[in-house]
Amino acid sequence: MSIGHPELVAAIASEIADSGPIPFVRFMELALYHPQFGYYMRSPEPPQERIGRRGDFYTSSDVHPILGQALAKQAEQMYQLLGQPHPFTIVEMGSGKGLLAKHILATCEGRYHSFFQHLRYVLIDRSPAMRELQRRNLAPWLDRAALLTWVDDLANVAPQGLTGLFFSNELVDSFPVHRVQVTAKGIEELWVDYRDGKFVECLMPLSSDTVVQRLRPVSADWPEGYRTEINLRASEWMKQVAQQLDRGFVLTIDYGHTAQDLYRSDRKQGTFLCYFQQSVNEDPFLRVGEQDMTAHVDFSSLAAAGEEQKLHTTGFTNQMSFLMGLGVEQMIAELEQDSPQFNAAIHLLRPNGMGTTFKVLIQHKGIRQPVLDGLQYKPFFGSALTTQSAA
Ligand SMILES: C[S@@+](CC[C@H](N)C(=O)[O-])C[C@H]1O[C@@H](n2cnc3c(N)ncnc32)[C@H](O)[C@@H]1O
Repeated sequence: MSIGHPELVAAIASEIADSGPIPFVRFMELALYHPQFGYYMRSPEPPQERIGRRGDFYTSSDVHPILGQALAKQAEQMYQLLGQPHPFTIVEMGSGKGLLAKHILATCEGRYHSFFQHLRYVLIDRSPAMRELQRRNLAPWLDRAALLTWVDDLANVAPQGLTGLFFSNELVDSFPVHRVQVTAKGIEELWVDYRDGKFVECLMPLSSDTVVQRLRPVSADWPEGYRTEINLRASEWMKQVAQQLDRGFVLTIDYGHTAQDLYRSDRKQGTFLCYFQQSVNEDPFLRVGEQDMTAHVDFSSLAAAGEEQKLHTTGFTNQMSFLMGLGVEQMIAELEQDSPQFNAAIHLLRPNGMGTTFKVLIQHKGIRQPVLDGLQYKPFFGSALTTQSAA
């Protein structure tokens, strides 16, 4: 079986030869985002694709436009609550192929005419290959420069702060993570070495004080052998998002948990996974640069990072409840029963699948206690995010 994309393997091996073993977080950064050879940065050989039914994994927007339709409805309500500002900017981070943007824009254009007149839609994605796909999927609006723009870096979106909505779907789970394990010596970190033509893991001391601090509140009852991940980038990202928002909302969809649930002592193997051609494995040292890697998101740390920047938690729910609150039942009732479209829409709601593994965190700034349709049904108690924060 392939160890990975040859030039990427050589680049990582050369970094290890120069500096010694690297923390896993650095290995994952290079495997996914090496500027030339990283998994997300290259276009796969056609007919392969990264994201989609024929890709390594698929996301909600590949299944059915109903999530985009619900998000458009939620964004329009946010626009009303903010007093119909001009412009109302939606910044979508990690837009992938741009399908959600397509579904949101089509819904706003078709149903929310006044909102659409005031809408600006900004896309940010690290990957040139994905940006190319976004341009193709958003072709109907490409000539509307006031509506649709791309920005290279989050730091350049709105130095003065904007009014609107920052939103992402399955972005945070693709940030590189530190991986740690409890050993007889305490908590150690996974580092990556290159020996005899293969990447191998080695357990060594924690690579940064920030990892040590993040582990302290969550690790007291972990047994020996316990493994998990720490996503420091997620908190830095949330801080940066909060700084770019003057008034409005941040809406984050991803698979994940509260810190209390993610770091509970019986979740002994953590949540790190690799995806290749719709199958899941746990070996990051195979097909390096040819398979995706992810880890579930700690939503408590996102909420805490926001609170530090005056970005308050509006609510936390799961995808099924979010969609129900936005009237998905009525949207589904308009589809022909048992048609492929109907079954696809139901797939997004499955209580044992996408409906509950995906969580939705909404935060607000510069507006008092907004009441949102997407948060009508909250399966978690209000304090769930703060009972044992990892931030
Ligand atoms: C798992 S895909 C999700 C795509 C899309 N949101 C969807 O729902 O189909 C993650 C996307 O985030 C992008 N990405 C990862 N890190 C990023 C970052 N720091 N800034 C912007 N985009 C990023 C990747 O290039 C990729 O397109």
